[in-house]
Amino acid sequence: PVNERVEELLAKMTLEEKVGQMNQYNGFWEVTGPAPKEGNAAIKYEHLRKGWVGSMLTVRGVDQVRAVQKIAVEETRLGIPLIIGFDVIHGYKTLSPIPLAEAASWDMAAIRKSAETAAAEASASGINWTFGPMVDISRDARWGRVMEGAGEDPFLGSKVAEARVKGFQGDTRADLAKPNTIAACAKHFAGYGFAEAGRDYNTVDMGNATLYNTVLPPFKAANEAGVRTYMNSFNILNGVPATGNSFLQRDILKGKWGFDGFVITDWASIREMINWGYAKDGAEASLKAVTAGADMDMESHLYVAELVKLVNEGKVDITLVDDAVRRILRVKFELGLFDDPYRYCDPKREKATIGSKANHEAVLDMARKSIVLLKNDNQTLPIKKNGQKIAVIGALAADKNSPLGSWRIASDNNTAVSVLEGLQQYKGNTLTFEKGTELIEGEATFLQEVVYNTTDRSGFEAAKKAANQADIVIMVLGEHGFSSGEGRSRTNLDLPGLQEELLEEIYKVNPRIVLVLNNGRPLALPWADAHIPAIVEAWHLGTETGNAVAQVLYGDYNPSGKLPMSFPRNVGQVPIYYNIHSTGRPTNADDNVFWSHYSDVEKTPLYPFGYGLSYSTFQYSKPVLDKTTYAKGEPVKVSVTIKNTGNYDGKEVAQLYIRDVFASLSRPVKELKGFELVDLKKGESKTITFTLTDKELGFYNNNGNYLVEPGIFKVFVGTSSDDVQEVEFELK
Ligand code: IFM
Repeated sequence: PVNERVEELLAKMTLEEKVGQMNQYNGFWEVTGPAPKEGNAAIKYEHLRKGWVGSMLTVRGVDQVRAVQKIAVEETRLGIPLIIGFDVIHGYKTLSPIPLAEAASWDMAAIRKSAETAAAEASASGINWTFGPMVDISRDARWGRVMEGAGEDPFLGSKVAEARVKGFQGDTRADLAKPNTIAACAKHFAGYGFAEAGRDYNTVDMGNATLYNTVLPPFKAANEAGVRTYMNSFNILNGVPATGNSFLQRDILKGKWGFDGFVITDWASIREMINWGYAKDGAEASLKAVTAGADMDMESHLYVAELVKLVNEGKVDITLVDDAVRRILRVKFELGLFDDPYRYCDPKREKATIGSKANHEAVLDMARKSIVLLKNDNQTLPIKKNGQKIAVIGALAADKNSPLGSWRIASDNNTAVSVLEGLQQYKGNTLTFEKGTELIEGEATFLQEVVYNTTDRSGFEAAKKAANQADIVIMVLGEHGFSSGEGRSRTNLDLPGLQEELLEEIYKVNPRIVLVLNNGRPLALPWADAHIPAIVEAWHLGTETGNAVAQVLYGDYNPSGKLPMSFPRNVGQVPIYYNIHSTGRPTNADDNVFWSHYSDVEKTPLYPFGYGLSYSTFQYSKPVLDKTTYAKGEPVKVSVTIKNTGNYDGKEVAQLYIRDVFASLSRPVKELKGFELVDLKKGESKTITFTLTDKELGFYNNNGNYLVEPGIFKVFVGTSSDDVQEVEFELK
């Protein structure tokens, strides 16, 4: 019936109304106030009233959404409701950890629950469509947007994509009509995470092996999970802007994958094709974008300006417009907007849902699960509650804004529980706090560059004094929450500002340091790794940051996170990732320099993909296969027994990797193909079994065909990508 209703409506629409559905505007006036009278806002307002706007973004809150929806429904000829989009990236008002941090949990149920919580809050505030999940794989920590994704690996990335899509939308298409779900959007299609040199918006040039095997799988997984929209991307892919890329949008997405939802452009990306030198003007850019399958124009204002004329001149076939409009209307029907355009506009629900106790508990749980213990010599952690003097040092320790991370437009500033506040809730020790150094100059905002303090050391002495008098020092250092995210590329991966210097100065007076890191990307911290006894990766954990960190530091929660991205030794190693190809010269076989390495630093990462410690220890048996030879199509079963050999109950992420030893294309030395989060009480053992099928054993060739080739496969099981035990089998 949805498709019938779509056709019925389409048949009534004028060309202008059709093109209107393909036009999205950012919120441009205070909707509950007076109508705009002049300038661009007045023009947009007129467009809205004529039915030339199909969607708005960033309008939020029940009153605002109801008011704008009322114009679409009551003042336009056909009364087609708007779809209301928003960047719900890691929570709406109650913030969960940044997506990269969530991926570190390897806990798909928790990640799904986090997206459900976000959807519940956003939908209670009038929103019915999020521009998430971001499923771009990236291997380059210089790129600030790694904070929004699930890291470097396509298998983990695909599982996270599925969990997030289902969390936002529910399991089935019918679930989309529930008032507490929202349509998801897999972005940025495609290749955006491979911007050259990690510089945002930059050129992407990539071969098919990487495109098919690394970049596309999470997008495909999102489609299989039922995602209803995609966003294309700012980059060119091998010379063709993604927005004007027919191969990506028509051939692969809507063709091969049979996607029947719609594609939104990224912000002004149709117009940006002119800057790329791919279209000479707005008309040509619109023609290329619509031909390539970009259905809705976000803020280029070009479809609304050009498409009617292009169709009337015979340059754009009306069937292309009809196809786009069908897709957009379909999703609007599925959301139930035609049955009740105000279904997301219940003020009572808004009040009860946003910031509810349950939502705080949910984001706290996600925050604890996202923390990764990177180092813990001599069981420095957990901290005992036995009358110790603790010095807390670092401006970030008391910061209530930075832990909220980037991409949190609906949240209120300074609403995170700071690490200091979290620690203050624990009695039994005495706390002193010193900033040591101001972190930044002025105020950090979403739109402006963050400027770090590089001159003012006036707080060093007081911090050293506090450290000197303490039994243990907790230093909270890292990047400000607005140092990662869109437009935040860096060429250094160190602790910005004076923080590294402060760390080394404090170490001189008291080396018993617990370093708590706040960052939106992998950092390169070789000195800290060599000297600091305990290091905790706490990312930007959202609203409940301080509570989560304190619970982990005091051992009320045993950390189980594992890195979803490799942490380099220095920035020169980037891009760095575990699923590399061997090269023809992987080892120093002849004792000379002619092998693949660096002269000045080891080629391995400082902390590898999949790495993370626990307060407990886990022992793995050698993996056991149920057979040694398998026929194609036959499931391969791999079992392993894991024992908790430490003194704490805990969880361990058991990881399975494969290597297709010889193939018609060189395959990576390791590829993640299974993982399981195993809950183990102190002393407990469990045997788990992974099953490998054709879906895990094959790969895409350079024509995009999926192949499962016979031959020898190695299977590795263990606690991180570089700590595994190996067996092998033959596929006949
Ligand atoms: O959703 C985002 C996208 O990821 C980057 N450009 C702007 C969009 C809308 O805010």
